[in-house]
Amino acid sequence: MITVSRNSLGEPVFHLRAGGASYILSVFHGYLLHLYCGAAISDDDPEWLLVRVGHDSVVPRPASTPEGWFSLDIAPLEYPAYGTGDYRPSAVMLRSLGGSVTPGSAAAALRYVSHEIVRGKPVPEADRQPAVYASPDEADTLIVTAEDPADGVRVRLYYTVLRALPVFCRRAVIENSSPAPAELERAYSASLDFTGLSRPAELLHLWGTWGRERHIERTPLCHGTVSVSSRRGASSHHHNPFAALVEDTTTEDSGLAVGVSLIYSGNFEILCDTDPFGSIRLLAGIDPTDFRWRLEPGETFVTPEAVIAVSDEGLGKMSRAFHRLFREHLCRGEWRDRERPVLVNNWEATYFRFDSEKLLAIAKDAADCGIEMLVMDDGWFSERNDDRSSLGDWFVNEEKLPGGLAPLVERVNALGLRFGIWFEPEMISPKSKLFEAHPDWVLSTAGRERSIARSQYVLDLTRADVRDYIVDAVSSILSSANIEYVKWDFNRNLTEAASVSLPAERQGEIFHRYVLGLYDVLERITAAHPRLLLEGCSSGGGRYDPAMLYYSPQFWTSDDTDAMERLDIQLGTSMVYPPSSMSCHVSASPNHQTGRETSFVTRGHVAMGGAFGYELDLTKLTDAEKELIKKQIADYHRCCALINRGDFHRLILPGDRVNGKSCRAAAWMVVSEDKSEALVTFVVIRTSIHPVYFLRLRGLDPAALYEDGEGRAYRGDSLMRAGLNLTKNYRDGESVVIHLTRRDA
Ligand code: GLA
Repeated sequence: MITVSRNSLGEPVFHLRAGGASYILSVFHGYLLHLYCGAAISDDDPEWLLVRVGHDSVVPRPASTPEGWFSLDIAPLEYPAYGTGDYRPSAVMLRSLGGSVTPGSAAAALRYVSHEIVRGKPVPEADRQPAVYASPDEADTLIVTAEDPADGVRVRLYYTVLRALPVFCRRAVIENSSPAPAELERAYSASLDFTGLSRPAELLHLWGTWGRERHIERTPLCHGTVSVSSRRGASSHHHNPFAALVEDTTTEDSGLAVGVSLIYSGNFEILCDTDPFGSIRLLAGIDPTDFRWRLEPGETFVTPEAVIAVSDEGLGKMSRAFHRLFREHLCRGEWRDRERPVLVNNWEATYFRFDSEKLLAIAKDAADCGIEMLVMDDGWFSERNDDRSSLGDWFVNEEKLPGGLAPLVERVNALGLRFGIWFEPEMISPKSKLFEAHPDWVLSTAGRERSIARSQYVLDLTRADVRDYIVDAVSSILSSANIEYVKWDFNRNLTEAASVSLPAERQGEIFHRYVLGLYDVLERITAAHPRLLLEGCSSGGGRYDPAMLYYSPQFWTSDDTDAMERLDIQLGTSMVYPPSSMSCHVSASPNHQTGRETSFVTRGHVAMGGAFGYELDLTKLTDAEKELIKKQIADYHRCCALINRGDFHRLILPGDRVNGKSCRAAAWMVVSEDKSEALVTFVVIRTSIHPVYFLRLRGLDPAALYEDGEGRAYRGDSLMRAGLNLTKNYRDGESVVIHLTRRDA
């Protein structure tokens, strides 16, 4: 719901209410101020939150404002522009190249012009970037227009509230309102100024690298700036486009958490700047380092969307808001709500050494075990026998697959299995026919050595002809056989990002144009193949971001398939992303990445934390292991709806300490929306002599009686307050899964 009231100056105040959260902005002497973002409050105009401190000569104020205390350097601004007295990091900076203001200047001050409120969620300027969608019954949108009174910049700020979720979606449309061209140098999606936080604040974010993605870190804010970003051309393994502002006392189930997730797959920055008066500015959007976007007079730029989830009941509630939002308002297509097939991928089984017969042997065992799909990974095309050649040459290697794909897929289908395939369409190997024909299709800077990674270059997706080639190449393979799944990989980051197809004044647009090009390709392929299940991948989870979930409802979580390593990775990922989006496979033991040995049972329990599958050579398993697979798949099918759509609760993180002692365990649970069942997973990472474990559960119906499948029943309140007694002598890496069902009589 969005209400508009008037403040003491007769100017509008907007109160956005959504799922128990409030977001309030106000016009004040023409400026757009941010008054509040947090748990729901009743007052429509909490103007008293404005900090009215005296200021000195180093803090300028707008000369036309009567209020002596009012300074843009101190006021909480809704979408701060650069150069007119606010020295904090600004959200927008447009450098005018002519017109009535001094050519080359970038100063601007945005003043309110008008607003409108519409039902539903309009798409600004027919924009085609991934964004949250909602029907008119589910959402309302406020659009505020503000502009610089001098020639320069006009912005339209979009705020959508989804009535049922504590979520606010924001984006900005920036227009060059001068009669001369201009260059946009900063264009953040959202800016949030917090004043008067009651406790010291921390930034929680997800860091990582290859094989170690999305580890949770909390860092205290300091006077100055704390930020996370990517300048790699992809959202990256290193930082996820997500951060949450939390209090130092915030836990999983108490305290404030304001999470910001950027629906974007490219360079991003999320920063928190703390000023001397204790106010905190959080900015989220495209990283400005190598960003410059030319706007002709009247042209607009639409930022990616930022989504803000608010919780005053800790991190868990914030995560659940993101999960539901992404599951129900971002993921699309046939597979959004469907149970995904349990698959076996041949990568860790064979790497590049396979042929039709080997794949069929795996498929045969897969069918016997109840596995539902075979995915053929890298190595099926051209001369691709290692990772040093052939990317771009998307035609079948008939030495490995005689007769092409169709006969293989038919035989796999005849065994009762679906068939999926791997692609890395954005890449090109210097050793390829495609490179011989089109050396200019590579992103590179003339006169400069090209950096190489995994023996490959990145294709120039800013070019329409390159995008057409990719769409045609992928489509022709997809229509050559009954292929029902694609793993879309992206194994290196961008360097020397320049394009021969763009003039000098547009080279600063490359990184963003690359991402727009990627979206265009993905949109065309998914629209042409609506039944396809797309799984995103980027050397594991190097581009696991909300924008990719718009096209691919699941993502390969990490190339590290070690069950113990996956605990940090999957629980970190769950901070923002729903379990249904996490692709998790049982792989071989000893694990190929770490050499660690883990039992088949534990590997299964951990992989059941998301979209379940296998990644090992089934032909090498013992009969007992194959029997275990049958049981795991039966268990997975029984609980699949719960895992995919249940409310997720992190119970113990691997780094948690209890009574000053490291737990060396991990636990999580999912609870069905009606609280009639729950699945609890507990993993002992490292055991000790006579360990004692009480696991306090969350999210159950306190009055209900839950049965544990072993003949015991407990009240929900007992399980949540006293806890489940899991004490026994565990081995390292041992795990327990308990399926609780409510006794309804
Ligand atoms: C990446 C992926 C792996 C596998 C290989 C194939 O590393 O993350 O899962 O597909 O590429 O080359």
